[in-house]
Amino acid sequence: MALRYLVPALAVAVGQAAAQCSGTTTIQNAGDASALSTCSTYSGDIAIATDTTDDIAIDGVRRITGSLTAKNVPEMVSLSGDSLSQIDDSFVLDNVEILSTLNFPSLSAVETVDWIGLPNLQELSFTTGLSKVSSLSIQNTQLSNFDGINLEEVDVMNVANNFYLNDITMPLAYVGEALSLEANGRDVNANFPNLQWAYNMTFRNCSSVSIPSLSSLNGSMGFYSNYFDSLSAPNLTVSGGGIAFVSNERLTNISMPSLRQVGGGLQVANNTRLDSVDGFPRLQRVGGAIDFNGDFEDVQLPQLDDVRGAFNLQSEQNIDDACEEFRPLAGGRGSVIKGPFTCEGKLRNPGGVGSSGGSRTGSGGSSSSSGAANAVYISGATGVMGVVAAIFGML
Ligand SMILES: *[C@@H]1O[C@H](CO)[C@@H](O)[C@H](O)[C@H]1NC(C)=O
Ligand SMILES: *[C@@H]1O[C@H](CO)[C@@H](O)[C@H](O)[C@H]1NC(C)=O
Ligand SMILES: *[C@@H]1O[C@H](CO)[C@@H](O)[C@H](O)[C@H]1NC(C)=O
Ligand SMILES: *[C@@H]1O[C@H](CO)[C@@H](O)[C@H](O)[C@H]1NC(C)=O
Ligand SMILES: *[C@@H]1O[C@H](CO)[C@@H](O)[C@H](O)[C@H]1NC(C)=O
Ligand SMILES: *[C@@H]1O[C@H](CO)[C@@H](O)[C@H](O)[C@H]1NC(C)=O
Repeated sequence: MALRYLVPALAVAVGQAAAQCSGTTTIQNAGDASALSTCSTYSGDIAIATDTTDDIAIDGVRRITGSLTAKNVPEMVSLSGDSLSQIDDSFVLDNVEILSTLNFPSLSAVETVDWIGLPNLQELSFTTGLSKVSSLSIQNTQLSNFDGINLEEVDVMNVANNFYLNDITMPLAYVGEALSLEANGRDVNANFPNLQWAYNMTFRNCSSVSIPSLSSLNGSMGFYSNYFDSLSAPNLTVSGGGIAFVSNERLTNISMPSLRQVGGGLQVANNTRLDSVDGFPRLQRVGGAIDFNGDFEDVQLPQLDDVRGAFNLQSEQNIDDACEEFRPLAGGRGSVIKGPFTCEGKLRNPGGVGSSGGSRTGSGGSSSSSGAANAVYISGATGVMGVVAAIFGML
């Protein structure tokens, strides 16, 4: 027994301490962790062994120049580090099933945070708070908020399947590559009060999204299956890529009063309660297609000046007025609308660009139709206009 303790003590005494502070270390128990306490900087990677059952406290270490990883560690309850302020590479927690305490009071900078499969992690004890992270991915945890994560900039942020997470508020000023939120708490509010610009952003299943300062998108932005009734981006003027609103079942109001230019397509589809698509009063140029389909009766794009792609309006409602207004803008080169023009109302199954015409004339068992294909389309030489629609009966 004496020997067990003597050996590591001797090793330190003869100057092996430096060697222990670099390389790749696998921690199997609390003793292995405390053996690192003299390493103010650990130069290398630290991993937690899969059969670890102890609480692991990596105390004393201030910086890890590589990664800190716990992957498939089913019996570890607590992971902490009282002095750790920086991880130069990744902080990976992957499938650590009963981990419930994550206590890093000094941690502020991590290159990549990659946490997935932490079904017992309900809160973070990050007193200082993470403020510098390039890539943040948090999935399948029980976190209810992001207290302890206060990023002012990020390249990639991916937050998904955290079913208890109902608040994502962050002082982000920009998103260098992509932000994606999906399937978090049913009441999740996404608040980015300081966000000025973002490359790509995708919001799914959110109950509110607040982006009051967003002024430009380098790439694209999409809203899918959200629960909000209103989306406002008052300062957004330009988007390098497309903008999409799809299947937001409560959406009644889109408001992008400053938007002038969309580099890709503008899609507003299947937002069943949106009666009026009038949220783009200054929109002039669209690099891709304009594709609006759903149950609206009113469409207004008063400043429209240049649409490089197709123009497709399809609605269950009568949209004759809108069609009359836009039809003169069509006509290919030299016209406002360069691509194919489609404008049809009173449809049973309004669809996206290219979904009209021949494909819907037959009654031969379209899979998307609950009844017969009731709308008969005639593609004339002058365009894809013209609908002889006979809507029979109810649904
Ligand atoms: C942005 O999204 C587009 C379209 O999905 C993709 O091609 C592009 O690589 C993305 N850019 C970044 C920086 O993530
Ligand atoms: C979340 O959004 C996706 C599409 O983006 C959708 O398929 C899914 O049904 C939504 N989930 C819920 C619970 O609404
Ligand atoms: C919107 O833009 C204007 C003009 O650039 C600016 O003065 C204002 O502060 C911005 N609003 C927000 C909420 O950022
Ligand atoms: C995105 O656009 C903003 C504002 O125009 C610009 O400052 C930023 O450098 C662009 N980002 C990238 C990655 O191109
Ligand atoms: C349209 O949205 C409804 C719910 O809002 C959804 O059930 C349906 O699958 C969506 N259809 C398409 C084509 O996205
Ligand atoms: C739509 O939202 C905008 C911005 O929040 C608001 O100013 C406007 O009054 C709303 N329109 C309707 C019809 O509610």
